[in-house]
Amino acid sequence: MLIDGKSVSQERLEILNREIRESGLSPGLATVIVGEDPASQMYVRMKHKACDKVGIRSVGVVLKDDATTEEVIAHVNALNEDASVDGILVQLPLPGHIDTEAVIEAVSPEKDVDGFHPENLGALFSGRPTFVPCTPGGIMTLLEEYNIEPKGLNAVVIGRSVDVGRPMAALLLNADATVTICHSKTKNLAEEVRRADLIVSAIGKAHFITKEMVTPGAVVIDVGINQDEDGKLCGDVDFDAVSAIASAITPVPGGVGPMTIATLMENTFKAAKNHLC
Ligand SMILES: NC(=O)c1ccc[n+]([C@@H]2O[C@H](COP(=O)([O-])OP(=O)(O)OC[C@H]3O[C@@H](n4cnc5c(N)ncnc54)[C@H](OP(=O)(O)O)[C@@H]3O)[C@@H](O)[C@H]2O)c1
Repeated sequence: MLIDGKSVSQERLEILNREIRESGLSPGLATVIVGEDPASQMYVRMKHKACDKVGIRSVGVVLKDDATTEEVIAHVNALNEDASVDGILVQLPLPGHIDTEAVIEAVSPEKDVDGFHPENLGALFSGRPTFVPCTPGGIMTLLEEYNIEPKGLNAVVIGRSVDVGRPMAALLLNADATVTICHSKTKNLAEEVRRADLIVSAIGKAHFITKEMVTPGAVVIDVGINQDEDGKLCGDVDFDAVSAIASAITPVPGGVGPMTIATLMENTFKAAKNHLC
């Protein structure tokens, strides 16, 4: 079974568009980008486009790549104070000289639609999620849409980043899966992955997950965004070989990626509704 993130995200965006119209609210998302990294610029453009599609107002703060941590935080503080802004997204990665943690912590937890603020991550790890990071949140939506119940499954998450691997593991644990997190120091990684009923790969290495590492019938979620030797976009999973034995698998592109943006839009509407309270 191919898990079609593109079509699920389109459906979710249509539903959201209807809900926003019916609510009479006018949610607002502010993005903050520092520097001119083409990939970051593209992601921010895609997020603004999605906002237009669902009826979320969006504003963009664009800062030069020599902006200081203090300058970025000053802009974040201004957005925290701005009542017309419900959600704030700081596009990562920030240039190396900027204290990324300090910037993330400056975002008001009530406007942290990326779910990276320690308060929101803490809530997630306590089993009482508020804003959930968009990529793992989108994966949980995909599992639900395809009736894949994590309860009781052996789930192996490969990658332990704060934006994907760790919150993914917490969400699966909250959904009653038995969760193993693997990373670059894991011994016998292939053996760990072979034990999985559900694999989530968030490494960033093309064709890393081979057929030999996957038990037939496993569900395979590929978060990776890489280029293969021909420069073509691909995930972490050797899709052609693994799709022949997996019970369900996400493609790259068209799997997890579109769900990340849909979840960001949903989080922004949630923030707008919370601000009414
Ligand atoms: N589709 C989407 O919407 C979306 C969103 C976010 C990210 N991504 C993609 O997902 C991938 C991961 O992103 P990220 O932000 O989590 O990256 P990251 O911060 O670089 O983390 C990568 C993780 O993979 C682990 N790793 C690296 N090489 C490994 C190996 N040989 N064996 C086992 N583990 C290994 C690292 O382990 P250590 O911790 O030990 O170094 C680290 O935990 C990237 O390709 C990124 O572009 C996609």
